Amino acid sequence: MTNGQVHVRLREHPELHEEHGVLRVTPEGSTDSFFVVRTSADVPIALSSVCTHLGCAVELVTGQLVCPCHGSTYALDGTVRRGPAVKPLPRYTARLEPDDVLVIDLGKSA
Ligand code: FES
Repeated sequence: MTNGQVHVRLREHPELHEEHGVLRVTPEGSTDSFFVVRTSADVPIALSSVCTHLGCAVELVTGQLVCPCHGSTYALDGTVRRGPAVKPLPRYTARLEPDDVLVIDLGKSA
């Protein structure tokens, strides 16, 4: 991670070549992870893994993101499917650079 930016080389992660593919990324030197999700958009999105209810780490469970603490469930675009959370998972700014490198800016919300 450099200056809050994380680079993910997409070709090294075949799961991101398919729609609804998800990759969990833990930046070097950090204990917090985030998700990169291939939606129908050309550029994958990057989502915080911190539940917006009380801050537990959400997990990927059969195609959705589920919080183990109180059961909030999020769709792969971060929107809430089931509470108690009411806010979507925060999205980080992500852009595609040459050579299929996705640059995620963890300091900026999209
Ligand atoms: S902290 Fe996630 S549902 Fe409560």
